[in-house]
Amino acid sequence: MPVIDSNSIYNELLSKVNYYSGNDIKNISLKYLYQKFNLSNSDLLLNKTINWNKKINIAFNKDIEKINNGIPIQYIAKSQFFYDQNFYVDESVLIPRPETEELVSHVIRLEKGDKKKNVLDIGTGSGCIAISLFKHLEANVFGIDSSKAAIKIANKNNKLIENQVRFIHLGIEEYNPEINFDIIVSNPPYISINDKKRVDENVLRHEPYEALFVDKDPLYFYRKILMFCKNYLNRKGNMYFEINDKYVNELGVLFSGYDYKFINDIYGKKRFLFVSVV
Ligand SMILES: C[S@@+](CC[C@H](N)C(=O)[O-])C[C@H]1O[C@@H](n2cnc3c(N)ncnc32)[C@H](O)[C@@H]1O
Repeated sequence: MPVIDSNSIYNELLSKVNYYSGNDIKNISLKYLYQKFNLSNSDLLLNKTINWNKKINIAFNKDIEKINNGIPIQYIAKSQFFYDQNFYVDESVLIPRPETEELVSHVIRLEKGDKKKNVLDIGTGSGCIAISLFKHLEANVFGIDSSKAAIKIANKNNKLIENQVRFIHLGIEEYNPEINFDIIVSNPPYISINDKKRVDENVLRHEPYEALFVDKDPLYFYRKILMFCKNYLNRKGNMYFEINDKYVNELGVLFSGYDYKFINDIYGKKRFLFVSVV
């Protein structure tokens, strides 16, 4: 197969990407090369060559069109790196975020041990939390989501670990498991519909609405999950949430009967809520 040097593709991107401006063009092009062709910045410095033919070239030009329509790179490349592996993603799931990687690393740090634990990820989306926890905690892991399309993607990702996580297509409202859990993790939808105008237009246009927004009550999922935990979380069990820092006070009230703490993300924002049941 003929080859092409990576700087030629990079330069073509720089000259054709017009949806973004300034440094964003560079960043988006680098991200695309990494997600689509696995070309890192150092590969570019070394001007590494990659296989190239007419078919790849046609697909490449179609991708540039998509970039210029504002479609996120991850949905174009159908991939996002999360924690320690690439996950398949498409427009039916939220693109896994770096702050959620932080949540996962806290859970792994705090829960690693000898005892095999039961773990539930509520609102699993691509399965990125559940699969990462399975790999690093060697636990029995379950993931639920009310979106059938999301569960399909989670199961696609599950193949990478021989389908060892059990993904279930059910909303938290309908889930009545036969087992209890030691760890419950959730990055639920937490943007109030009133804050819609503050959300980046690309996110609004391309990421699933039901993964992001809660209609009236911004704490809806935290309340539901707390109710669920009253029945299905073992004593000495723990809940780990990603949160909207805007609702720290209200969340403090909701979990006031429990041993809870808020944890900052790397930018110093209260991003996570950890709750223990004694
Ligand atoms: C913010 S996304 C999180 C996705 C993934 N866990 C992540 O961190 O990238 C929230 C997820 O909750 C799901 N969801 C929405 N309503 C739900 C419900 N009632 N029960 C369970 N999952 C729900 C959405 O489909 C979406 O996949």
